[in-house]
Amino acid sequence: MKPLHSLERKLLSSLARDDGGLLEDVALKADMTIDQARRAVEWLRSKGMVEVGTTTRYKIEIGDEGRRAADHGLPERRLVEVLKKLGGEAELHELSKASNLTPKEFSAAFGHARVKNWIGTVSIDDKAFVKILTPDQISPEESLLKKFVSKKDLFLDELSEEEKKAVSILIKRPDYFMMRPLKTIDITLTELGMKTAETVKEVKEIDNLTPELIISGRWREHKLRPFDVEAVAPTIYPGKKHPLQRFIDEVREAFISLGFEEIAGPVIQPAFWNFDALFVPQDHPARDMQDTFYISKIKDVKIGSQDMIERVSRVHIDGGITGSRGWGYDWRLDEAKRLVLRTHTTAVTVKYLADNKVSEAKVFSVDKVFRNEKLDTKHLAELHQIEGIVVGRKVTLRDLMGVLNEFYEILGLKKVKFWPTYFPYTEPSLQSIVYVEGFGWMELCGMGIFRPEVTLPLGVKNPVLAWGGGLERLLMTKLHIEDIRELYENNIDWLRKVPLCL
Ligand code: PHE
Repeated sequence: MKPLHSLERKLLSSLARDDGGLLEDVALKADMTIDQARRAVEWLRSKGMVEVGTTTRYKIEIGDEGRRAADHGLPERRLVEVLKKLGGEAELHELSKASNLTPKEFSAAFGHARVKNWIGTVSIDDKAFVKILTPDQISPEESLLKKFVSKKDLFLDELSEEEKKAVSILIKRPDYFMMRPLKTIDITLTELGMKTAETVKEVKEIDNLTPELIISGRWREHKLRPFDVEAVAPTIYPGKKHPLQRFIDEVREAFISLGFEEIAGPVIQPAFWNFDALFVPQDHPARDMQDTFYISKIKDVKIGSQDMIERVSRVHIDGGITGSRGWGYDWRLDEAKRLVLRTHTTAVTVKYLADNKVSEAKVFSVDKVFRNEKLDTKHLAELHQIEGIVVGRKVTLRDLMGVLNEFYEILGLKKVKFWPTYFPYTEPSLQSIVYVEGFGWMELCGMGIFRPEVTLPLGVKNPVLAWGGGLERLLMTKLHIEDIRELYENNIDWLRKVPLCL
């Protein structure tokens, strides 16, 4: 048997001595706070030593009018007493005057006395007389009120049938009674609990190892209770970061642990950096309003140096400094100046290359991108992308696959496959799929080596390995959710239960 906590031992002995009952009483008898008793009960229950039942009891609390009636009698009783003093019979207006009641109170008291058959009326010569009929009968309502003379409340289940009926009558009068349901917890000792209670008394164990016990060495004289790490504990939901933010942080750490530096750039970009500098022709379907959010009205956008714009545009027109054929169309500056909500973080990557003209670098970004998508279980219009590049003199596609393998492994993804695909800005281009436990294979990052059409006009000579992909999709598989929108709904119940460690 697992060792018992001192609270458990205390409660067991008390229960064996004084019997079970309501949690409040049990706590009182065992000389514990309600909270201590509650914990001890919970532990003992999980060990099968106590049984816990809950019942709803109804508490009747007396109101202001009820209190007056309990202390001074029902208004109808007081009325009859006045009538008695008047000789048992009086004219209606005489009685009303003598009663000292407001007209409203008088008519209520009069009505109740009549219904109870305590008084009756007769008319003689056009005059209304009131007479006592059966005044000495104590009504059930009055016997009920007697119970409240020195009490504020009573439980419904403590009353007789007759008294319950009286409650149902009096509760209809304003401010007589309030009925409140109360959940009560009933505790009883099981047979096992009873047996254990007999054995626990003698054992003296210590729960808390205090500095004094250690310093004085007295701990040697005592038996120390081992911790029960499997003991039931209340579930608590402390504040924590949103799972999406936690995952973003995790991805950042993965990059940083591989020696990458973070870069960031504006969300709003000229089409030039989002598309043109990436050798995406101006009539490419991705540039369509259908796929891309354009910002209207703002016209005078600064892109970069005249020389650089010239070099990039020439590449589109006839291949320019790359010596290739280019796309062979009429490149337009105003199209390049249109502002877009960046559709990929690759816009930030190329701007970084243009600004820094690095010959060696390892940089990454984890940031928001926007796509003009219809929202559904798999698509959001605003999402996050993971993106990285490696620039170096001799880097190859093999290195790219190697870096990706390592990166995925840090995120807990061990099985990775690559196959050829197409992007206008990389050659060769690859798509990677990863195996996610409990989910299966999924597409993750697109990647490749930036074409000379991208790097040369920006002044970058060495090869640039680049990759990028959606972050939310990966997180969905880790959290086992099927609708991507759940990540943004902020359902508090879900947020509470999402585990911290995935
Ligand atoms: N930009 C691509 C996307 O949005 C991903 C990518 C990045 C592909 C870098 C190749 C190189 O899907």
